[in-house]
Amino acid sequence: MCGIIGIIGENSVSDDLIKSLERLEYRGYDSAGIATVYNGRMDRRRANGKLKNLISLIHNSPLKGSTGIGHTRWATHGRPTERNAHPHMNEDVSVVHNGIIENFRELRSELEKAGCIFYTETDTETIAHMISYYIRHGAGIVDAVGRALKRLKGTFALGIIFSTDEDIMIAARRGSPLAIGHGNTAMYIGSDAIALAPFTSAVTYLEEGDWAVISSKNAIIRDSNDEVVQRSVTALEVCNFQMGKGNHRHYMHKEIHEQPEVISRTLSNYIDKAELKLHPFDIGVDLSTIDRIIISGCGTSFYSSLVGRYWIERYACIPVEVDFSSELRYREPPLSPNSLALFISQSGETADTLAALRYFKAKHQTVASVVNVHTSTIARESNVVIPTLAGSEVGVASTKAFTCQLSAIACFCLMLAKSQKNVTKFNEREIISGLVDAPNLIAAMLSDERPFNNLAYELAKASNVLYLGRGINCPVALEGALKLKEVSYIHAEGYPAGELKHGPIALVDEKIPVIVLAPKDKLFNKTVSNMQEIASRGGRIVFVSDANSDEAGCELLAHLPIPKAHPCVMPLLCAVSVQLIAYHTAVIMGTDIDQPRNLAKSVTVE
Ligand code: M6R
Repeated sequence: MCGIIGIIGENSVSDDLIKSLERLEYRGYDSAGIATVYNGRMDRRRANGKLKNLISLIHNSPLKGSTGIGHTRWATHGRPTERNAHPHMNEDVSVVHNGIIENFRELRSELEKAGCIFYTETDTETIAHMISYYIRHGAGIVDAVGRALKRLKGTFALGIIFSTDEDIMIAARRGSPLAIGHGNTAMYIGSDAIALAPFTSAVTYLEEGDWAVISSKNAIIRDSNDEVVQRSVTALEVCNFQMGKGNHRHYMHKEIHEQPEVISRTLSNYIDKAELKLHPFDIGVDLSTIDRIIISGCGTSFYSSLVGRYWIERYACIPVEVDFSSELRYREPPLSPNSLALFISQSGETADTLAALRYFKAKHQTVASVVNVHTSTIARESNVVIPTLAGSEVGVASTKAFTCQLSAIACFCLMLAKSQKNVTKFNEREIISGLVDAPNLIAAMLSDERPFNNLAYELAKASNVLYLGRGINCPVALEGALKLKEVSYIHAEGYPAGELKHGPIALVDEKIPVIVLAPKDKLFNKTVSNMQEIASRGGRIVFVSDANSDEAGCELLAHLPIPKAHPCVMPLLCAVSVQLIAYHTAVIMGTDIDQPRNLAKSVTVE
């Protein structure tokens, strides 16, 4: 989603602002801009579309100044046009903003009555005029911002610079993350650490409601009550920011191939691989008393929640419900004192998930989270954090974060089972051994992508694709359909295999490829029956299975073999298959794989 960078230093900032915006591209955006202040005058350059448009604009018409802000915009209010692109500016201030100002209409009409002229459809322009209004009515810069912040309802991360004072940049955070970077001769603000990584490894994460007055030497941070506060400076995990694509054409491909390593790293956090047992754990919560678990996430993280339900109910014998984070709190579910709310999020900043988490915290529930960004808001606001160690995921379509979520949830499930004294009901060592084998099995799958590439030519001709799975692999079928939609723009739907005959089978004809996840588990024969139903109606079946192709019992469009493994591990292996199907299809479709249209990496608005 939108990205912010701000720099206040001694040298020209224009090139560094662009360098940082390039690193923020992965978040998804549809326009970009920068503004600087120089000799008492602000100026800006903005362009619709990709960053290269902005770069060529700046090349033809450079911007001077050692104080500046930059933004990549993912449109919420107003179309993605140059006019609506940030920074928004008047004679006094220039503003970049992530989030949504919910009361912008009433503020705008108040300001229009006071004589302000608006040029855009955005909520952000209101902030610039509001600050300017207070300045023109006698307030100093800092006071004007403080007063304006109090008028805003909604969510924001803000970077603000001023024409009358090049030595001040103001940052503010409510609901959207923002960090301050401490350099030797400059200070920075960034909506995520990736934006700051080229310049500094010393970072202060602003807390909810904080705002900061920043010079090239330091930052004075105030809390929501305007009291000056000290916030700690932490070191960036540099290894997380090695962002090149290496030998891969796309980040998505690189991240699919990183899975053996990052799954192994995530498992090592929980499992003693030599002894095939869990590391001793004390996560600060008594897991033995938990009698109900509610798991929630969005998109891919929602699907890993669904896989988690199968594991936890089966092995820890605790009832689990799963819901979309965007829906959960509106149901107002009845809660019990011993329930645990578990939130799954790669970024740890997804607004829907964060809002659901806060709802449960306000109801005094114990809140745990499975997160990949350990400094994120969701991680910081959780009672218990179950980290994944996937490293930075740049491709908008989640791949390695998903399989690392599954790995961490599987380990958490074993902790629950152990705490609830349910380990005797299944063979813990067998499951752990299965998990430990997973990275090697995935590496073997990744060693030959030709079957996926061949199939992709067929899928690229289809307008619709169905994905089917049963039991624990059903959520992976849903994830497969999401992945194909996201990166290839081909319509796809996932269903439980047994559900097809209750309606969706009406879609089946000789044009529709049906991708069936059918590991040879105890449900295999039932899935095979469903394949017969499809084949007899002309549907073209892609058989993703560790069984031989003749066991499918029908003609196949393709057989994508997966290695034999413990049933527990099958969701990870099937996940890799559906990722490769989506990736290769998208390559043939020629889409923007790492930054698909309309999508954002971290969705920080509800
Ligand atoms: O960062 P999160 O895991 O909270 O993000 C949730 C979804 O927005 C995310 O999984 C999205 O669905 C991805 N584009 C999936 O590939």
